[in-house]
Amino acid sequence: NPFRNAQYLISAHHLRDLPPDGGAEAAFAGRSNAGKSSALNTICDQQGLARTSKTPGRTQQLVVFPLDDAHRLIDLPGYGYAKVPENLRLHWRGLIDTYLRTREALKGLVLIMDVRHPLREFDQQMLEYAVATGREVHCLLTKADKLSRSEGMRTLLAVRKELQARAPQASAQLFSSLAKTGVDEARAVLAGWLGL
Ligand code: GTP
Ligand code: MG
Repeated sequence: NPFRNAQYLISAHHLRDLPPDGGAEAAFAGRSNAGKSSALNTICDQQGLARTSKTPGRTQQLVVFPLDDAHRLIDLPGYGYAKVPENLRLHWRGLIDTYLRTREALKGLVLIMDVRHPLREFDQQMLEYAVATGREVHCLLTKADKLSRSEGMRTLLAVRKELQARAPQASAQLFSSLAKTGVDEARAVLAGWLGL
């Protein structure tokens, strides 16, 4: 598992703080509190790697986790959290937008959605952006432990159908950081993007 080698490097408040735009990276995006940082930790099999919290708004910068010299995972701040001060929210939004638009090393977006609330407005915007720029997207419907197997499957099929119409390149799967389900499937997608 190459993701076990992930280490914390830097929390970037500005794009210029990121490592040089070379190699290959994948970014974890999604609404605030969806479970992005937890999913990153689960994929890397390292519980304390990215900071997680019960309170939305935990991840406040672009947090960079290199696997080696040429491969990285990026934990993004959540979008859509009203309690973060307006000026900071606008700063994140600008930062994330510019990052997604301009970063050449970015090979794909892992879009994390709570399986109980998939494809909300901000998720749709992220998908539209991905379609517009031809980026890869893989959706993790996380916290799948909160639903029964059949409810989870029903949601997955509905999400796949919706994706087919809106973002045909996007794929989706069930995931749980708590129950550690879907982890190998997610790793395989990321490894494919990064050429690992
Ligand atoms: P921000 O950085 O604030 O945007 O949040 P985030 O998307 O990084 O979420 P984070 O990983 O910090 O998790 C938010 C909350 O959801 C925490 O209380 C986690 O313990 C919980 N959580 C994350 N993944 C799962 C999961 O698979 N199952 C369950 N039951 N809870 C989860
Ligand atoms: Mg986070």
